[in-house]
Amino acid sequence: MNLKDKTVLITGAGSGLGKAMAVAAGQAGAKVICAGRRKDRIQQTAEGVTKAGGVGTAVEMDVTDPKSVEKGVKQAEKSGPIEILINNAGIITGLKSVQELPIEEWDKIMATNVRGPYLLIRTILPGMIQRGFGRIVNISAPIKHLPKASAYCASKCALDSLTKAVSYEVKGADVLVNAVEPPFLDTEMHKGGKKPEEVVTQILELAALDTGAASGRIVKIV
Ligand SMILES: NC(=O)c1ccc[n+]([C@@H]2O[C@H](COP(=O)([O-])OP(=O)(O)OC[C@H]3O[C@@H](n4cnc5c(N)ncnc54)[C@H](OP(=O)(O)O)[C@@H]3O)[C@@H](O)[C@H]2O)c1
Repeated sequence: MNLKDKTVLITGAGSGLGKAMAVAAGQAGAKVICAGRRKDRIQQTAEGVTKAGGVGTAVEMDVTDPKSVEKGVKQAEKSGPIEILINNAGIITGLKSVQELPIEEWDKIMATNVRGPYLLIRTILPGMIQRGFGRIVNISAPIKHLPKASAYCASKCALDSLTKAVSYEVKGADVLVNAVEPPFLDTEMHKGGKKPEEVVTQILELAALDTGAASGRIVKIV
């Protein structure tokens, strides 16, 4: 995994999969910007990154808020231009049928899981294109049609579409855009399943793809 000295921004890095990816990228010698809303959690992850051999920096960011994204990216780029973006922040709420699901809950899930990645991509992509290098990995999910999880499923389908559409838009540039479907993971979001540490290598391989590798893929992680 060639991540040495690469600048990687990971959203939702304060817990679960985001934290595990941040520390693993640190082990590989990356400069990792750990973004999220809870300051203590992202700070803790950033310390873990540095301890693992990389350089960790915590940046407070609410991915649903354009101003917060813009401010956070500006702050992050003090460490150098962002070469790799991992859109990992995501939420799910309790199982509810579509008619029970409050509009506010639908909006919040879509804002976090789809608007967030869109805001991050639109802020960071122009620099990647200009510099002629970029890797974007969107964290999708294997559940796409689960009853009582319509908003989450719709958000991850939309994220897959965003991934493919953007990958076509940047065709020809050395900017590769892919998504992954991790298995069930034991995190704050979901109890039971694999430990996030068990799947990070497969995900980070997509963040470290060589020039000419495939783009626009939705990769299942087992
Ligand atoms: N767990 C599973 O079984 C599973 C399976 C497949 C895919 N996934 C996906 O994996 C990703 C990570 O989930 P996880 O399981 O690691 O859950 P998690 O521990 O709950 O992590 C989600 C992270 O997202 C951050 N976040 C939420 N809203 C945010 C916002 N508005 N702005 C910035 N950060 C925000 C949270 O931090 P703050 O609250 O501090 O901001 C949290 O650190 C998600 O996209 C999820 O859909 C999970």
